[in-house]
Amino acid sequence: MRPPDFETLAVHAGIEPDPLTGAVMTPIYQTSTYAQSAPGEHKGYDYSRSDNPTRTVLQAQLAALEGGSRALVYASGLAATDCVLNLLRSGDHVIASDDLYGGTFRLLEYVAKPRGIETSFIAMNEASVRAALKPNTRLVWFESPTNPLLKVIDIEAVARIASEHGALCAVDNTFLSPYFQNPLKLGAHLVMHSMTKYINGHSDVIMGCLIFNDRPIPWADKGLYERLKFLQNAVGGVPAPMDCFLALRGIKTLALRMKRHEENALQVAAWLEAHPKIERVIYPGLASHPGHALACRQARGHGGMLSFFPRAKLPQVPCFLSDLKLFTLAESLGGVESLIEHPAIMTHASIPPERRAEIGITDNLIRCSVGIESARDLIDDLDRALAKI
Ligand SMILES: Cc1ncc(COP(=O)(O)O)c(C=O)c1O
Repeated sequence: MRPPDFETLAVHAGIEPDPLTGAVMTPIYQTSTYAQSAPGEHKGYDYSRSDNPTRTVLQAQLAALEGGSRALVYASGLAATDCVLNLLRSGDHVIASDDLYGGTFRLLEYVAKPRGIETSFIAMNEASVRAALKPNTRLVWFESPTNPLLKVIDIEAVARIASEHGALCAVDNTFLSPYFQNPLKLGAHLVMHSMTKYINGHSDVIMGCLIFNDRPIPWADKGLYERLKFLQNAVGGVPAPMDCFLALRGIKTLALRMKRHEENALQVAAWLEAHPKIERVIYPGLASHPGHALACRQARGHGGMLSFFPRAKLPQVPCFLSDLKLFTLAESLGGVESLIEHPAIMTHASIPPERRAEIGITDNLIRCSVGIESARDLIDDLDRALAKI
């Protein structure tokens, strides 16, 4: 039989009416602990850091959406990333893309490095990954498209190189969501999402997840699931039941939202590209994007994130951002409402200025999360604010 389409999975996967009451919506099991009939005898749950029924349903659904056998959820995207880094030991080496969410850079550079885990940040492609490999390389970590410069990285090629080397390949799939891209199907070993973004989709939850197919960890005698599940409980960065419920509710409309985000982003990107006050637009869905062909090959769409460079100097850029009425000036992305931000001052401020300059995060770079409003209204808003530059 044909497997269900994404839209169906988003509504039904992992979700059964509550066995106790028949409730159609997954109940919020707002409890920290569970009665035991005798010491150690319980119904599968003993303490909510270890497991919680609302979380169990969410994890099953995420695994189905991303095409993995297992999913684990965390209190934030960075807590999920930290759990992957906890698979490593002092003396291990990581390769990461140079264009990366600022918080991931901060975690690698200022938390993992002092603990003896060194990261090489590279402009990632097949040749640069091969050149950066060391005998102790255990993990290759990247986003595709990257944040904020939307570079498209060949997931299949990088995953192959990592596998041949006995390293894990982890992809931060936050920007495209499982609706548009499934890195596990391209050979990646781990997918991370900041669920704070598209998966939840309503800017009211902070959460992260890891999705994977259980497999042996090449350098350890443990399987990926056993080790990560142990770490989820041992480190304890788990989300609350209420937040798991909100994410479950958000996911039901993920397919509808992603389609609309993409339609709007394409219209806004094309309009900006034709505007005389815009130097350059970066959106993988535009034919002008150098990674357009690769993006079309490895993903089913291009999402709602775009970046652009207005022909303006620093004092004018913040004024333009503050002049916008529909685009809210705020960090984060992936909610139904359009957000806009200035990476150099906001999301990527934790990256040292000289490094930002090297990568291309200039003072006139603007990153934009195109929401699901009317594209015409969004364009009018940009038009009005650009006129003042
Ligand atoms: C691409 C990407 N990855 C990871 C994160 C971190 O996720 P969280 O804020 O949920 O910890 C973010 C946050 O902005 C992000 O944009």
